[in-house]
Amino acid sequence: MILPIVAYGDPVLKKKASDITKDYPKLDELLANMFKTMYNAYGVGLAAPQIGLPIRIFLVDTSPFAEDEDFTEEEQNTLKNFKRVFINAKITNEEGDEWAFNEGCLSIPDVREDVFRQPKVTISYVDENFEPHTEVFDGLIARVIQHEYDHIEGVLFTDKLSSLKKRLIKGRLSNISKGKIDVDYRMRFPNQKKRR
Ligand code: NI
Repeated sequence: MILPIVAYGDPVLKKKASDITKDYPKLDELLANMFKTMYNAYGVGLAAPQIGLPIRIFLVDTSPFAEDEDFTEEEQNTLKNFKRVFINAKITNEEGDEWAFNEGCLSIPDVREDVFRQPKVTISYVDENFEPHTEVFDGLIARVIQHEYDHIEGVLFTDKLSSLKKRLIKGRLSNISKGKIDVDYRMRFPNQKKRR
């Protein structure tokens, strides 16, 4: 089932999400629905708060980036095959000189801005079978993980912009929260006026 994606302005996006236990009800179904929802919106990542659940789950599938010819064949292959479920994740280290990448977010349609982040990340998490992992990622995969991880910490990429940039996009963000935007996937807008 394709779920509605929660738009900017919903308090669930500002909330620090909680860990879940192995017996979380219908976890398989939830993950399947999240993947469907993400692919339907052509996203490379989706976090549970974006479908209204304040729990520590996010998905990443970087395969759409594999088309990009700026990457070497090896990098393209890595991106093509990277599909992962992160549950109860904790970033334990970030390192390297910050680099800019033009980020977007399914909860903030049509807004894209350069965001600075460190290139290398160490993350501990359990997968969909609750097997524990600790791994190091870099480049674009690290970038997507950092963006999605921020979601479960209640942080949006727009929070990381300069105050000038924030002021410049304020009106657009307000319009998004009111549903005054055309989106070709299902969304839920917190400040939309109800039709009579
Ligand atoms: Ni996002």
